[in-house]
Amino acid sequence: MSHAEYQTASLAPALAGPITIGSGMSSKPPAWAAQAIRVRQQQGTDGDGLRIAVTGGAGFIGSHTVEMLVATDAMVLVIDDYSHPSGEPLPDEVEVVLADCGSEAAAKALASFKPEVVLHLASKGGVQKAAGDPGDHVRASLASTVGLFHSAIKAGARRIVTASSGGAIYGERAKLPARETYKPAPVSAYGAAKRSEEIYVATLGLRHGTSTLALRYGNVYGPRQDGSGEAGVIAITCCRLLEGTAPRIHGDGKQTRDFVYVTDVASANVAAISSRLIGEVNIATGRETSVNSIVDGLIAASDQRVRTEFLPMRPFEVRRACLSPARAQRHLRWTATVSTSSGLKQTWSWFCKHHLALQTPQVSASVG
Ligand SMILES: NC(=O)c1ccc[n+]([C@@H]2O[C@H](COP(=O)([O-])OP(=O)(O)OC[C@H]3O[C@@H](n4cnc5c(N)ncnc54)[C@H](O)[C@@H]3O)[C@@H](O)[C@H]2O)c1
Repeated sequence: MSHAEYQTASLAPALAGPITIGSGMSSKPPAWAAQAIRVRQQQGTDGDGLRIAVTGGAGFIGSHTVEMLVATDAMVLVIDDYSHPSGEPLPDEVEVVLADCGSEAAAKALASFKPEVVLHLASKGGVQKAAGDPGDHVRASLASTVGLFHSAIKAGARRIVTASSGGAIYGERAKLPARETYKPAPVSAYGAAKRSEEIYVATLGLRHGTSTLALRYGNVYGPRQDGSGEAGVIAITCCRLLEGTAPRIHGDGKQTRDFVYVTDVASANVAAISSRLIGEVNIATGRETSVNSIVDGLIAASDQRVRTEFLPMRPFEVRRACLSPARAQRHLRWTATVSTSSGLKQTWSWFCKHHLALQTPQVSASVG
């Protein structure tokens, strides 16, 4: 999709009228509160909140986003099969349907909820899992995603926002940070599936007059991320340090990523819901950080004297990744606000508390 097409907004009726943030305010509200104000501006005059369905709302990024949406008084329906929940209970106000997002049950729930916007975050498997069985990945993830897009449109959604991956879409690039105008060149089955999702949502949206936007996230990290999976070096390193095992790096650690904190991503999701932007947009910091410096930062935070174990580089991983946030800044008025050092500190401290909380019931049980 060309840049000009972003500007024309000739697609579906956009959700919003003119949006202004904080006009008449004596001081600037924090970024996520500004997004909340914007969502409130979209709401009907009858006091009802915007109706938003979030697939994968029980997951890592989903749970943070749902909390932020609820704070805006939005009415939220979560569709999640609970195959990989974050463990954090969702706010009481949220309606939850336990189903595969591409299923008949999900389609029925959407038809009865009648969302104005669908935010699609549900997804299974990462780069290595998809590489191991690409056909299964298509069946487990892409097929459900396309089914969900179709159900959302049939249910009358005016906008669909879907999670994509900047790290997996652009492939290996000589010139960074990558901009949305770069030709997609995924090097993995996961990246190919994410690009397919982008194409499907844009195609179905164009056909049915629904406005659509794919969010190309950087490497998202923060509280509630699963530290036992294949991806998420920050969560995995926190867990290893807390378990007293040495951190592990695949490759020499000089590979780089664009690490973006989860509450920044949640506020980007909220901004995307209420914006008119269509096509694709990077959600990232524009900072290129090596895996070595991340792991060293966590070791320092843990106050431990441990040596990192270096393992062979994994296939289908790019050497460098960094995404330009310029389009998000311009069109969503979104920018990442959490510095890497502050994000690492907050994440480490959450993992410490979480680790302690997991141990506490055993201690009190033995005392009792
Ligand atoms: N975490 C990252 O660094 C990152 C980076 C780029 C893109 N993304 C994308 O962002 C989205 C959210 O990622 P996350 O890190 O929160 O993942 P997550 O695994 O924590 O959350 C996904 C949620 O979706 C649910 N789910 C999975 N398949 C489902 C299905 N078919 N139907 C209904 N629910 C289903 C899971 O139970 C889980 O609650 C995904 O699309 C992911 O590919 C994440």
